[in-house]
Amino acid sequence: MVIAVDGPAASGKGTIARALARHFGLPHMDTGLLYRAVALNLWRWGGDPASEFEALRATHELNLDPSDQELRSEPVSKIASAVSAYPSVRAALLERQQDFAGQPGGAVLDGRDIGTVIAPDAEVKLFVTASAEVRAVRRQKELDGRGMHVRFEDVLADIHARDERDSSRDAAPLREAADALHLDTSELDVDEAISAAIRLVEEKL
Ligand code: C5P
Repeated sequence: MVIAVDGPAASGKGTIARALARHFGLPHMDTGLLYRAVALNLWRWGGDPASEFEALRATHELNLDPSDQELRSEPVSKIASAVSAYPSVRAALLERQQDFAGQPGGAVLDGRDIGTVIAPDAEVKLFVTASAEVRAVRRQKELDGRGMHVRFEDVLADIHARDERDSSRDAAPLREAADALHLDTSELDVDEAISAAIRLVEEKL
């Protein structure tokens, strides 16, 4: 069984995907980390995110350590959003994601284009959303927890900008697959969102 979980930044899709993987005993891949690893490489070299060529070079020399906290830093998030718009970067990361999705026992993958591009035949597709304001509150809390105190208006503006970039790019834009199940987590706490996702998957099987 393949479960595809897509949605915008801070929608709760990562938490939901990890919980689904645990619940159904499946391996999980956070595909955003791949784009973040490309961004981190580029950033460490002092490469130019505006250059598709340099971004592709950073992709070919990928070395992903998911425990590296810098992957989740703000500069790396911004660069990840920029490099993920390059078709050559997306193409170079495709096989790795499709191999993961193709494991014999199945898998859970979360990202922006899992249900539309990476695993269009996934048995279950979830599209997780929440209002921009709710997502900004969550992101601000997360940043606070890491000792980074950012104004709410700035976090919200950043969420809007990232949504706009992710949805308007030509290469695999963020959009809901026609056969996706929609889960709005605006009014749900973490446990409620996880229970709702498990229910949706079980109903679909
Ligand atoms: O999900 P996360 O915020 O970690 O993703 C980092 C960046 O990678 C996002 O800005 C998004 O544009 C990009 N991404 C993507 N396709 C995916 C996963 C993430 O373009 N499947």
